Amino acid sequence: MAHIGNDIFKAKELLQKGQLVAIPTETVYGLGANALDEKAILKVFEVKQRPFFDPLIIHVSGIDQALNYAEFNDERLKKLAQKFWPGPLTLLLPKKNNVPDLVTSGLSQVAVRVPNHELTLQLLKQLNFPVAAPSANPFGYVSPTEAEHVNKQLGDKIDYILDGGKCTVGIESTIVGVEEGEVCVYRLGGLAIEEIEKEIGKVSLRINNSSDPKAPGQLKNHYAPNIPLYIGDRAQLIAKFTNKKTAAICFGKTPLQTQNVTFFNLSEKENLNEAAINLFSFLRIAGEGDFDVIVSEPLPDKGLGRAINDRLRRAETKI
Ligand code: TXA
Ligand code: MG
Repeated sequence: MAHIGNDIFKAKELLQKGQLVAIPTETVYGLGANALDEKAILKVFEVKQRPFFDPLIIHVSGIDQALNYAEFNDERLKKLAQKFWPGPLTLLLPKKNNVPDLVTSGLSQVAVRVPNHELTLQLLKQLNFPVAAPSANPFGYVSPTEAEHVNKQLGDKIDYILDGGKCTVGIESTIVGVEEGEVCVYRLGGLAIEEIEKEIGKVSLRINNSSDPKAPGQLKNHYAPNIPLYIGDRAQLIAKFTNKKTAAICFGKTPLQTQNVTFFNLSEKENLNEAAINLFSFLRIAGEGDFDVIVSEPLPDKGLGRAINDRLRRAETKI
């Protein structure tokens, strides 16, 4: 198993040597490597078993550092960076030549983000390279929101896990870019669209639900727990699986006790931020527990509820 601790110096040394370090962020834990070191990047793809067509996000300590690797040509994206960095926002920006093609899967834009986590920000400030970090989970599986999640799944393949506690947002960053002059959201995430639109006005959604590998990161079969998951009317689903041990994800008032059903309440107070924090750890606990099936109702389609519904749909068992 990997060493776990909060030693930034150790993390820095390992990254400088081209080794892998899991890093905490406010969204999910990342599997970090020196983004300018192709060998280190290759290790990330290998450990994650991630296809090379799926590019990586680079993490920097602020706009100043970002400017070493990417151009800020669009005023609206600049405004978003100024307002929301550090935070759960990833920007797709024209890349500079020093960013290896391996990081961007050959695309001309690089995904950049400044994570809002004290420990990781301190680490990034001390490095003279950006840290490429996909979520620290095997490809296609639920993202980790605690150091122990990383250790369980990838612990024997990485050198160090920087433990920054439980993630405070719990769902991956919102990805934003510009296409044909229009600001587009490519992945719903920890920064609600409403917040973005308050700053720069209407944006369009380019959320891809296909299984087309040319649609990076938007693969439909993603975030999957290791037992089937179905979304729909909860009572109907519970009735359908009456002989199965069911984990039922709920939101708001917990329904009455039902035989064979265990309820996992994302937020009794109907708080969507709290629900986002709990989502992945519930999917994980349910997937690893003594259950046959997970059922869930969609959450309200606003704020972080939209990103939560997106993750649930991608995790849903396809028939
Ligand atoms: O919150 C997050 O964004 C976390 C933490 C660790 O920062 N990272 C994360 O990374 O979720 P990952 O690799 O699991 O998801 C990154 C997504 C992928 O869907 C990828 O396809 C997309 O970002 N992406 C990365 N670079 C891109 C690029 N140049 N153009 C288009 N999409 C890109
Ligand atoms: Mg991921």
